[in-house]
Amino acid sequence: MRNIAIFASGTGTNAERIMSYFEAGNTARVRLILCNKSTAGVVERARKHGVECRIFTPAELRETTLVTDWLEEFAIDYVVLAGFLLLLPPAVTDRYGERIVNIHPSLLPKFGGKGMYGDRVHAAVLEAGETRSGITIHHVNGRLDEGAVIFQAETPVLPDDTPETLATRVHELEYAYYPRIIEQEILKMQ
Ligand code: GRF
Repeated sequence: MRNIAIFASGTGTNAERIMSYFEAGNTARVRLILCNKSTAGVVERARKHGVECRIFTPAELRETTLVTDWLEEFAIDYVVLAGFLLLLPPAVTDRYGERIVNIHPSLLPKFGGKGMYGDRVHAAVLEAGETRSGITIHHVNGRLDEGAVIFQAETPVLPDDTPETLATRVHELEYAYYPRIIEQEILKMQ
């Protein structure tokens, strides 16, 4: 049984799907939610699932061993980013290497990088007149949205889409695939 930590900054709907998915099997469990915002929705979702949730500031993440100490305390084997808006410091990326995964709500390398999060991504996709969008699940290095791609899934962009309607379809793809791809990656671990 592997131990997962999820880093999240926001609502946490993906984090919740991942907690539920692994509660039902015996590959892994989500042991720890790590969040940089005490008012984020993910905090309550963690509580509901009985998963420990720890809050840190950006400076604590970058400049102290607080977060890496927690990863050790919970014997974390695998790190999942789910709507996490800060860059992970080398202390985490060096330690976990390919055992860190992120999800991005576009077909990377399109519509990734600084400022590209949430509905801004979907607004940019519509603005550019794209005919398809989707999700990218990828490894994480020290640069935003640039790690090697593990998996992508597509949805068409419809003529009457708004950022909200497109976001809804992209979220459905995230919920359908992210937990399964994480499990697949964990099963590949030695
Ligand atoms: C998701 O769309 C994910 O792709 C992106 O951030 C969003 C998080 O949503 N990285 P939620 O907090 O899981 O609802």
